[in-house]
Amino acid sequence: MKKRTVSPKNCESLDDSRHDVHAKKMKSLGHFTQGIVHDIRNSLHVVVSASTLIERRTDDPSILRHIASIEKTIERTNGLIDRILAFANNSEDHLGIVDVSNAIDESILLTRPMFPSGITVEWHRPQGPVYILGDHGQLYQLILNLLKNAIEAIGRGNKGSILVTLSSSYPWAEIRMKDSGSGIAPDVIDRVCEPAFTTKKGGSGFGLANVFGVVEKHGGSMQVASPTGEGAEFIILLPLLPE
Ligand SMILES: Nc1ncnc2c1ncn2[C@@H]1O[C@H](COP(=O)(O)OP(=O)(O)OP(=O)(O)O)[C@@H](O)[C@H]1O
Ligand SMILES: [Mg+2]
Repeated sequence: MKKRTVSPKNCESLDDSRHDVHAKKMKSLGHFTQGIVHDIRNSLHVVVSASTLIERRTDDPSILRHIASIEKTIERTNGLIDRILAFANNSEDHLGIVDVSNAIDESILLTRPMFPSGITVEWHRPQGPVYILGDHGQLYQLILNLLKNAIEAIGRGNKGSILVTLSSSYPWAEIRMKDSGSGIAPDVIDRVCEPAFTTKKGGSGFGLANVFGVVEKHGGSMQVASPTGEGAEFIILLPLLPE
């Protein structure tokens, strides 16, 4: 199988001194973002309350149609806010000893309800724990982003499968996620980790940039393979806790 390493140009690693500056910038950007998001949520809350009030007091179909479109827009805006928050939260680390196997298990369990019925997920975990020094929340987001992309690549309403495998061979834990979706075109594959790069209508293009950010913070590496007609596979290596 032809493997394509995600291009260093687009998923560039930073040296230590640049890491410090980068980490500080990301932290203040995180706080700034959380502040703004808080105010946006408050404003949205006022709009929701007002439209609920109007909805209760009218049975005019044209007004109700407008109310429905307000509600849909708010729902979409809340989705956007969640993505921005996920990006901002990546800026602060909560490191500890994490069992990657548990973190993946939890992500799959929590996201299962949002899986379209035609998509099956197979999860192969090793028998014992796989310990790394990491951030449980960030690993959860990482798996969530990969699962979301896999579901979108298969397409809601279509049949398909997602295979998640975890294995470990000192000094690496290896996570693989393979889907039977549309795959990634050769002219696009080197750009998938670029922040704001998306081929989707309504996509933000920050999913894989976040995934790569988490991988990099954990001292790992990521590859993507997409042989023609076979969907996409993401392979992530994370350093195991020293034995
Ligand atoms: N499993 C996959 N199969 C096919 N293409 C993929 C897959 N994962 C990522 N891609 C491609 O990489 C691009 C970038 O993915 P990324 O997750 O960063 O953003 P997005 O999914 O477009 O938007 P968002 O994650 O914000 O909803 C996608 O638009 C898509 O073209
Ligand atoms: Mg995505």
